[in-house]
Amino acid sequence: MTAHERITIDVGAQQGVEVAPDLWGLFIEDLNDALDGGLNAECLRNGDFEFNAADRDGWDALTAWSADVADRVEVRTDAPIHPNNAHYLRLTGPVTLVNEGWDGTGTTEGQGFLLSFFARAGAEPARLTVTIGSNGGNLARAQVMVPSGGWHRCETPLTAVADGRGRLHIEIPAGLVVDLDHVSLRPTGPGGEPLTFRPDLLQALKDLAPSFIRFPGGCVAHGLGLDNIYHWKTTIGPRHERAQIPNSWGYHQSRQIGYLEYFELCQATGATPLPVVAAGVCCQNYPGGAQAIDDDAMDAYIQDVLDLIEFANGSPDTPWGARRAALGHPEPFRLRYLGLGNEDEITDDFRDRYARIEDAVRGRHPEICVIGTVGPQPFGPDFEAGWALARARGTAMVDEHGYRNPRWFHQNVDRYLAYEPGPQVYLGEYAARSNTMRSALAEAAYMIGLERNPAVVRLASYAPLLARAGHAQWTPDLIYFTATEVLPSASYHVQGMFSRERGTRLHPVTLGGVEPEPVTLPATGSVRLMSQGASVDYADIVLDGVVRHPVTTDPSGEPVELGGIDPAAATLELTATRRAGDEGFVVELGGDSYLQVHVGAWQNKSTLVIRGDDGITNDDHGPLHWHGVRTGVPVRVKVRLDGARVRAWIDGELRHDYEQDLRPEHRVVVGAASRTAADGSTEYVIRAVNAHPTARVASIRLAEPLGPAVATVTTLAGAGPDEGRPFTASPVAPVITTAAGDTLDLPPWSFVTAIIRRIP
Ligand code: AHR
Repeated sequence: MTAHERITIDVGAQQGVEVAPDLWGLFIEDLNDALDGGLNAECLRNGDFEFNAADRDGWDALTAWSADVADRVEVRTDAPIHPNNAHYLRLTGPVTLVNEGWDGTGTTEGQGFLLSFFARAGAEPARLTVTIGSNGGNLARAQVMVPSGGWHRCETPLTAVADGRGRLHIEIPAGLVVDLDHVSLRPTGPGGEPLTFRPDLLQALKDLAPSFIRFPGGCVAHGLGLDNIYHWKTTIGPRHERAQIPNSWGYHQSRQIGYLEYFELCQATGATPLPVVAAGVCCQNYPGGAQAIDDDAMDAYIQDVLDLIEFANGSPDTPWGARRAALGHPEPFRLRYLGLGNEDEITDDFRDRYARIEDAVRGRHPEICVIGTVGPQPFGPDFEAGWALARARGTAMVDEHGYRNPRWFHQNVDRYLAYEPGPQVYLGEYAARSNTMRSALAEAAYMIGLERNPAVVRLASYAPLLARAGHAQWTPDLIYFTATEVLPSASYHVQGMFSRERGTRLHPVTLGGVEPEPVTLPATGSVRLMSQGASVDYADIVLDGVVRHPVTTDPSGEPVELGGIDPAAATLELTATRRAGDEGFVVELGGDSYLQVHVGAWQNKSTLVIRGDDGITNDDHGPLHWHGVRTGVPVRVKVRLDGARVRAWIDGELRHDYEQDLRPEHRVVVGAASRTAADGSTEYVIRAVNAHPTARVASIRLAEPLGPAVATVTTLAGAGPDEGRPFTASPVAPVITTAAGDTLDLPPWSFVTAIIRRIP
C-alpha cells in the first residue's frame, strides 16, 4: 500500500456568497492556426489566392497551390469576383491544379464534402473534374459544370470512399480557359450543408461547457498598425467579400470565421459572447509603437462599436438588427460584455480614446459591462496605470493577464483576497508555462482561489486555446490538433473539471494537517554564461573576489560554467564583448532554482531578469528598454545576490534591484461549493489539488451534514509532475469513480472533484 498522509477538510456552513455564474469561459484568437487550418472547417489553404508577402515573406497568390504545368497558371487581378478578393487564377487546359490543404485533408469513408468555387469560362461551358487524391488512390471524385460567360458560383457534393488524407485536384481539360477563385472544400453535416466549424474541435469546446467566449483577440483585436485593427463590419457577409488582412502572428486572416461565426460559435456552445474591440489604438509592439485612430475618424469608430452592440442585440427593426436577421439570425445574440483594448500601453492617447469609447457605450448601453485592460502582466507599470484609470473612471471590470511559472500560481492562490472594492476582474488570459502536470495542477490550485473570490473575480479564461501541431507561435496551449486528431492537454482536463461541475453557493474550507510549502533560496549553485545567436568573449571576470580566466560563449547557446557560488551571497563582475551575431548574452546564477540576467533580451532591446523554478521560467524583473549589445563594444556587468535581494548593474547603471518572491507555495488547495439538485436536495462540489509527491487521504466534515452520502469522484492523476508536453495529448485523463462522501483520496500530483450527495 502507498504511504499517505491524513488531512482534514472542514466545510463550513454556507454564508450566502454566490459563485460567479459566468466564471469559466474560453478565449479564442487566430493564433497557432487556431481558425484557418483549425476550427474553421475549410479544408483548403489559400482558396482565395489572397496570401501575400505582407502575411509572410515568400508568400503569394499561389502559396499552397501547385500545378502539373506551371506556365498554364496565371495570377490575374482584372475584373475579379470582388475588390476585397482581387486575385484569381486563369487556367489554360490541360492543367491540373492541386491544393495542399492543412497538412492534407482528412477523410473518413462515407464522409460528405461540398466543393464550391467561383469560375468564369469562355464562350463554351466547361466541365471540370475534381478529386480528393492521395498516394493510395482517389478518396472522392466528381465533375462540375461551369456555365459560359461571367463569374458563376459552382458547387458539387463529394463523398469519401475511404479513410485517408488527400489533396484536392482540379483538372481543366485541353482547349479550355477557366478563371477560378474562392475555392472551398468543406465537410458537410447530416443535411448536406457545409459545416462552419470542424466537428471534433467544436465538440472539444462544447465539452468545456463555457459560460462565455472572448474573441477575436488578444493581439489580433488591436492589430499591428492602424490598418491591422480588427474592424468587425469587414468580417460579416459573403465570405468572398470579407476584408482579408495579415495576422499579427505572421500569417493570413481569411476572416472565414468572422464576427457572425464567432456569435454562432457562442450559440453552439451555449456561451455568452465577449467581443474585444480595439480601444482606438493599435498594439504598442508595432514598430511604429501604439498609434491612435485620428481624432476626426474617432466618431465613426465609436459608431462602429455602438453598431456592434446593435448587431448583437438590436431588434430586427433597427438597421444592424436587420442585418443580423438578414444573415439568418432574427433572434439577438444577447451580448452582455464588451472588452475595450488588450494589454495596451496606458498612454495619453490610449486614455483619451478609451474614455471616449467607454463614455459612448455607457451612455447608450448601460446594460453592457465594459471590460478595460491593465497590461500584459499581473503587475508592472501598465498594470498599475490601467488599474488607476479603471478606478478613476469607475470601469465595471478589467482584464488581467498572467503567464507565469507554476510556482507563481501556487504562491498566488490568495491573490484576490487582497483586492479592495472597485472594478471587478476578468482574468482574460492565464496559463502556467509548460504543458506538464505540474502546470495543470498549479492552474487548478489558482482556479480554486479564483472561484472563492467572487466579489472580485467574475470571469476567467485560459490562453491560448488552440494550436495546430507543428504550426504554433505560442506554447503552452490548451488543445493541440492535427488534420485528424484532437490532443487535449492536462490543463484542458482541469478546465473541464471546473466548468462542467459547478456549485452555486460558496462554503468556507478549513484544511487540517497540511501547511503551505516554504520557498527558500537554493543552498548551493554556480554561475554559467551563454549567448544564443552570438559569439561573446568575457574578460576581467571576478567571482566573489577571485579572478577567473577569460572565457568565450558561442551562438549554440551552450553554457560555459564559471564556478560555484552561494546563491544567497554572491558577486560577479565581468566585461563582455560580442564578436559576432545579433543577440546579447545571459548570466545564469543558482541551482535548481536559478536567475538569469539577460543582457540584450527581446531582440537585443532590453535587459531582463528571469527566474526558473522546476525548469520553468518567469520574468522576475523587467524587461527594461536598453540600447542593446553592439559588436566590438565592451559591456561591464555586475550582479550581486544578497539574500533575496537581486541587483544587476550594466555599464555602472543599476538597472535591476528587487527582492525575489519567497512566499510559500499553496500546493494542497481545497474549495467547496454547494448547489440544489433537480430533486431539491443539496449537493456539495468539493475540489482538491494535491500538487505534491505525497498521497493524502482527506476526511471531509460538513458543517451542514447530508446524512448518509455518496460521492461521484473525478480524478486527474497518474502522471509525474514533469510529464506532458506541447503537441501531444495529456498523459492522463480524468477517471470517474464512486466513493463514500466522507473521505477523499488525493493521489500524488492530482486534481480531484467530488460531488457529494445524500443517498436517497
Ligand atoms: O494569448 C496569446 C497572446 O498573449 C494574446 O494575443 C495577447 O493578448 C497576449 O500577449
